[in-house]
Amino acid sequence: MRKWIIRILGLLLILALIFYIVRVMMFRSNSEELRWDWSSINTNDLYFPKNFVWGVASAAHQVEGNCTNNNWYAWESAVDADGNPRIHNNEKAGLACSHWSRYPEDIQLMKELGVDSYRFSVEWSKIEPSEGQFDDAALQHYVDVCKALLVEGITPVVTLHHFTNPIWFEDKGGWEKEENIELFVRFSQKVFVALQPYVKMWCTINEPNVYITASYVQGIFPPGGTDKQVAATVLKHLLMAHVETFRTLKSLPGGQEAQVGIVKDIFQFDPWNRWNLFDWYLTDLTGKAFNESTLQFFETGDYHLSFPPEANLSYTDKNAPKTLDFIGLNYYSHMVLSFGLDLDKALQTKIREGEVKTDMDYPLYPEGFYRALKRIGEVGVPVYVTENGIADAQDDRRETFIRRYIYAMSKAIRDGVDIRGYYYWSLMDNFEWAEGYTMKFGLYEVDFGTQKRTLRKGSKAFQEIVGKH
Ligand code: GCO
Repeated sequence: MRKWIIRILGLLLILALIFYIVRVMMFRSNSEELRWDWSSINTNDLYFPKNFVWGVASAAHQVEGNCTNNNWYAWESAVDADGNPRIHNNEKAGLACSHWSRYPEDIQLMKELGVDSYRFSVEWSKIEPSEGQFDDAALQHYVDVCKALLVEGITPVVTLHHFTNPIWFEDKGGWEKEENIELFVRFSQKVFVALQPYVKMWCTINEPNVYITASYVQGIFPPGGTDKQVAATVLKHLLMAHVETFRTLKSLPGGQEAQVGIVKDIFQFDPWNRWNLFDWYLTDLTGKAFNESTLQFFETGDYHLSFPPEANLSYTDKNAPKTLDFIGLNYYSHMVLSFGLDLDKALQTKIREGEVKTDMDYPLYPEGFYRALKRIGEVGVPVYVTENGIADAQDDRRETFIRRYIYAMSKAIRDGVDIRGYYYWSLMDNFEWAEGYTMKFGLYEVDFGTQKRTLRKGSKAFQEIVGKH
C-alpha cells in the first residue's frame, strides 16, 4: 500500500514538473520580454509610409487653465482620510499653461516643430456647465482653435473624454451608472455638430483602463474608489459609451467621412522571475485585466474582466468590433511584477538592472513600444500612436527616448503594422494629474510664473526626425 502511495505521489510530481515546463515554454513564446542590443542598432535607419502624420498631443484640464467646474477641480482641494493632499506637493491645475487664451502662440510652437496635426481634448464641464445647458461661447472657442490650426496647415484631432467629468455628472454617479452613458453621448453629439466641419478624426474616450485603475482601484484619481468590481463595471460603461457614441456620430451629417476611434493605453506586465509560477500568475492576471479586457472587446465583442476574488464581469456586444475606424495607442513603458503575499504590494514596479528610469516610476523600454504596436495591430484597424513621451526634468534622457522609441515604431511599420501617425506627449509641460507639475513631459519647457515656453535641447531630435520624414 505504501509503495502505491509513493508511486502515485511520484507520478503527480512528474506531471506537475511537465506542466510547469510547458507553462514556462508557452509563456516565453507568448509574451517574451523583448530586449535589443542598442549598440548595434542605427536609430537613423527609419522608414515611414507616405502621408504619415506627425503631431503633438495635450488634454484640456492639463493645459487650458480655469477648469473650475469638473471633478478634478474639487479633487485638487480635497484631502484623503489621513488629511493629506490628493495631489503631489498639494498642487492645483489652476491656470495651467493658460492654453485657453495662449493657443495662437502655442500653434506657432507646433509650426516651429514642423508637425502637421494636433490632438487635444474638449472640456465637457465648460461646454455643458450644468446638465442640459450648453455654453455656446465655450463651443465657439474650440471652433476658433480648429480654424486657427487649419490656417497654419495643422489638422485638429479631438478627444471627447480625457479623464475629467463635469461636477454635475459626477454627482449623478458618473460612469458607475449605466443610465448616465446617454448624457455623454448627447454631449458628444453637440460637440460633433459644432466641430465636424473642421475635424475629421475623433477619439471618443482616452485610456479607459487607466481611468478605471486610477479612479477605482488605486484611488489616486477622483472619486478615489478602491473597489475592483466597481472598476470592472465602470470599464464596461466606458466601452458601451464608445460604441453608442460611434453609432451616433456616424449617423449625423458628416459622420460617414469622420474617423472615429478609441484611445487605448498599453502597459505590458512582465514577470520579475520567469521561472516563478506566482509571478506569471500575477502578470497574466494583470495584463488580461489592464490590456486584454478592452482589446478583446473590440476583437470579439466579448468583454471579460476578472481579478479573483474581487472582480468578475462579463458582457457581450457582437457589434463592438465594427465600431472602430482606427485605434489610438498610448504607450510609455512596461511594469515588472513580482508576487508578494500582500497583493497590493505585488503590483509594485521593479526596475531591472541596466534599465534607465524616467522621472515617472517606470523605465525607458522602446522594445515594449514595438510589442504594443504588434499587439494593437492585431485588432485589424489602422493604428495611430496618440501619445508617447517621457517625463525628464533634467533633459538628459529625452533624446535617447525619442530616437529609440521612434526607431521601434518604424520597425513595427516595416514588420507590417498599419501605423498611420504619431503624436508626441506633450507639446509642453503641463499638469500631470496626481503627480502635479513635477513631471516634465514637454517638448517645450514651461515657466509657470511667466508662461514662457522654451524648446528643450533633447526635443530637437523630434524636430529633426519630423523634418526629415
Ligand atoms: C495618461 C494621459 C495623459 C498623461 C500622459 C503622461 O496617460 O495618463 O493620457 O493625460 O498626462 O499619459 O502620463
